[in-house]
Amino acid sequence: MQFASLTVDPAFRIGEVDPRLYGSFVEHLGRCVYEGIHEPGHPEADEHGFRRDVAALTRELGVPIVRYPGGNFVSGYHWEDGIGPVADRPTRIDLAWRTIEPNHVGVDEFQRWAGSVGAETMMAVNLGTRGIDAARNLVEYCNHPSGTYWSDRRRANGAADPYAIKVWCLGNEMDGPWQIGHKTAVEYGRLAAETGKAMRLVDPSIELVACGSSSLAMPTFGSWEATVLAETYEVADYVSMHAYYQERDGDRDSFLASAVDMDAFIDAVVATADHVRAVGRHRKRINISFDEWNVWYQTRFAGEKNLDIEQTPRLIEDVYSVTDAVVVGDLLISLLRHADRVRIGCQAQLVNVIGLIMTEPGGPAWRQSSYHPFALTSRHGRGTVLRLEPTSPVYETAAHGPVPVLDAVAVQGEDSVVLFAVNRDQRQELTLDVDLRALPSLAVAEHVALFDDDPDAVNDATNPDRVTPRRLDPPKADGGRVQAVLPPLSWNMIRLTTAR
Ligand code: AHR
Repeated sequence: MQFASLTVDPAFRIGEVDPRLYGSFVEHLGRCVYEGIHEPGHPEADEHGFRRDVAALTRELGVPIVRYPGGNFVSGYHWEDGIGPVADRPTRIDLAWRTIEPNHVGVDEFQRWAGSVGAETMMAVNLGTRGIDAARNLVEYCNHPSGTYWSDRRRANGAADPYAIKVWCLGNEMDGPWQIGHKTAVEYGRLAAETGKAMRLVDPSIELVACGSSSLAMPTFGSWEATVLAETYEVADYVSMHAYYQERDGDRDSFLASAVDMDAFIDAVVATADHVRAVGRHRKRINISFDEWNVWYQTRFAGEKNLDIEQTPRLIEDVYSVTDAVVVGDLLISLLRHADRVRIGCQAQLVNVIGLIMTEPGGPAWRQSSYHPFALTSRHGRGTVLRLEPTSPVYETAAHGPVPVLDAVAVQGEDSVVLFAVNRDQRQELTLDVDLRALPSLAVAEHVALFDDDPDAVNDATNPDRVTPRRLDPPKADGGRVQAVLPPLSWNMIRLTTAR
């Protein structure tokens, strides 16, 4: 048995959680759109061809914003192909994923779907093969009320009111050599600045995300952010971050510490953005849009160049284990810990493609293991993030050096404090001593944990609820202290509410 402790004090605040931290991502990739959210002819399809079962799981998940339509896909996309009568829309080759794109779902359909699941759209524009004109026309199509060419085209397509899409991504991963229209930091920075300027002339209320590095491992990481932000500082509100984690060579100890890497990555991008702010004598701060993050077994994917061109291929359909779900829960802890600067987060992706939700064509939809920590954190992690300084045993990892066994964050709501905590030890329980003297009226309402005797257990179509969170006996609060026992290799939510 190991011991850790922490103090919860409402005086020590990190910042308010922006609900958009719990966003997700839908890309025209594999079976995320087609056979994912959209499948006309499915018994659950609504009159527009969207699956009601997937929409219900998405609502339950609680995603207030969804990034669309890519991803690498957006860098070759003509958004005009996806509007107007479906029968008239062209079929194209999407070169990002070497896939046949029928354009049956476009901006209007996606906007309708997003509204139906209670999410706003976060729209990405193509800065790979296109530029200023296509982007400003899309803003006009979506956000201008009426009386102009593109706004009247939207109205003719059935949407009388503007969509008022607030957040716009200026391209996607433009630092990556795999990206169609890949650019140097200066080339991209200039184009992003001028595109953003024109988009904002159409609608001054929009918020803009400039592309940061595709990952911490990119050779241009750091200098890319510095150059791009120097070019775009006046126009951008956010810089993007992307990170995917996986267990490598059976090194589970390092994998379980993935949030340590995410912490360091965020700290480095914040420092770089603030450096550009200082050099440029700027007043505003650039915040973070962590608009792609997840566990992704990239080493199992042979790469897009090896794909045969087909329609609706099964691409990157990772099946997540208990261990993966614990890491996903811990990555959310890292994002929450940086709530003062990370304002938007998009788990990538929503359905089938490294998805929280899986579907079979004509068949069921079910929750992956990682769905559960996401849904519980999104539902209960709202309010003010409190700074914790836990004491914890430490273990050695090959990838990250010494790492605390405990990772934890606390979020204070109106009459509650919710602790999210991970025990990274694969074999031993961790007794967590929580000092609540500053909040003596709190008592434990519930302790929910995700763990299993088999850390490789997964959910699938035949056993969709093999992995679900379990309720543990809620520990008693005694004299302003609570002692909770965190099972080995577990993600935990301990909800404390005002005793009535
Ligand atoms: O989410 C899958 C892909 O990962 C996205 O298309 C791309 O932006 C990233 O490399």
